[in-house]
Amino acid sequence: MTGTRAHWGSRLGFILAAAGSAVGLGNIWKFPYITGENGGGWFVLIYLICIALVGLPIMMAEIFIGRTTQLAPVGAFRALSRRGSPWVLTGWLGVVVAFVVLSYYSVVAGWAMHYTWLSITNAFAAHDQAAINELFGNVYVSPTVNLGWHVAFMAITIAIVLGGVQKGLERWVRILMPALFVLMLVMLGRAVTMEGFGRAVEFTFAPNAENLTAAGVLEALGHAFFTLSLGMGAMITYGSYLRRDDDLVATSVTVGVLDTVIALMACLILFPITFTFGMQEERTVGLIFMNMPLAFSQMPGGALWGVLFFALLTFAALTSGISLLEVAASYFIDERGWTRRRAALTCGIAILLLGIPSALSGGTRLFGEQFQSLTSNLGVNDGAGFNWFDFFDYLASNWMLPLGGLFIALFVAWRVGGAAREAGFKTGTRFGGLYWGWIQLLRYVVPIAVILVFLNAIGLLGFLDGT
Ligand code: TRP
Repeated sequence: MTGTRAHWGSRLGFILAAAGSAVGLGNIWKFPYITGENGGGWFVLIYLICIALVGLPIMMAEIFIGRTTQLAPVGAFRALSRRGSPWVLTGWLGVVVAFVVLSYYSVVAGWAMHYTWLSITNAFAAHDQAAINELFGNVYVSPTVNLGWHVAFMAITIAIVLGGVQKGLERWVRILMPALFVLMLVMLGRAVTMEGFGRAVEFTFAPNAENLTAAGVLEALGHAFFTLSLGMGAMITYGSYLRRDDDLVATSVTVGVLDTVIALMACLILFPITFTFGMQEERTVGLIFMNMPLAFSQMPGGALWGVLFFALLTFAALTSGISLLEVAASYFIDERGWTRRRAALTCGIAILLLGIPSALSGGTRLFGEQFQSLTSNLGVNDGAGFNWFDFFDYLASNWMLPLGGLFIALFVAWRVGGAAREAGFKTGTRFGGLYWGWIQLLRYVVPIAVILVFLNAIGLLGFLDGT
């Protein structure tokens, strides 16, 4: 198996691809607005703890599984357990989650593409705050804009996945990830000079538990999974293209740190704009699409910066999108013997169709308002702003990914043979000494944390009064 399997061209290639999967809309679009929604400070702290104690150990577990078996998730679980073992269901869950996540992720990526286009046509230049907010409002409800860009994003994602590991994924991330990082540094440089920077730092880092709820803690945990692309086998799949002697520990830590740095940078770029221009703290999906254009409209050369920003945001979304499609496609390639072409096309088109309700969520009664009243009648939400799109995001990131992650942790900690596991962990790394701690985290800390947060979120513990 090892001999014929495609591999990354280099270790740097893997790090960039894994970081490319991790860094995406989750960092730049989602993290700032959920931080705003949950009142900053404490939420960020809990999120950081989740990354360090839950996320990183699971990332190592996923890469370990992939690298050891050289197989995509379903096959990997089968190879490490017995035939007909229920652990294989974890692999299956991952494939299902890939379809769900990419279906709405693509809609947001479509907004990023649309905003790239708007920047190219200099659409923000003469606009004030009200006009820019209204512009997003119009985009949000427009079926044609949402559907059109959703299709475009899926088409590009499919095309890249068709190209395969080295030619497709690796070549792109090599150029685009560093470019995004540099651009964000430049923007941060600008944000530091803004009047609202101090308040933004305070908002992001100063402990403030006022708006934090049980639902918020669940969201922090779920987002730790989402942002690191964990809990559904993406890192198992990418890890399966690693050679068996590649460094597991250093790679995971590098990816985790990069991802976290970019998420925090995004807050420190966005919130200064919010505070400087005295905007309402927008706590909605529209945050970056309102804040950034406003900043660009006030900046010299803003149109150009706008094009760069939204284009790179689109690329960041692409490198994440391809990792999601790759999970789905590689299942059919490895397990069903499909050609890459057939697998990428079939899965891609299925995801495209599944995403249609999300694309129509803002603008149609059926997937917006009616769905909202249905779910609130069922008691699934508190009524406000919970359409199909929100429901998919909520279900996938808050419940499915942590559940998948829990199973992955339990599997590696309790099911995989100890000696082989230890030898595997220690191959090719200078950090073999961390093995004991890794196992303890997977055995006890991860399961207890995930289960406590779940129980608390459904109101069985009542640490925080849930909403
Ligand atoms: N991590 C990506 C982001 O932050 C999204 C993503 C890519 C993802 N692959 C994933 C999320 C797998 C969950 C699972 O934007």
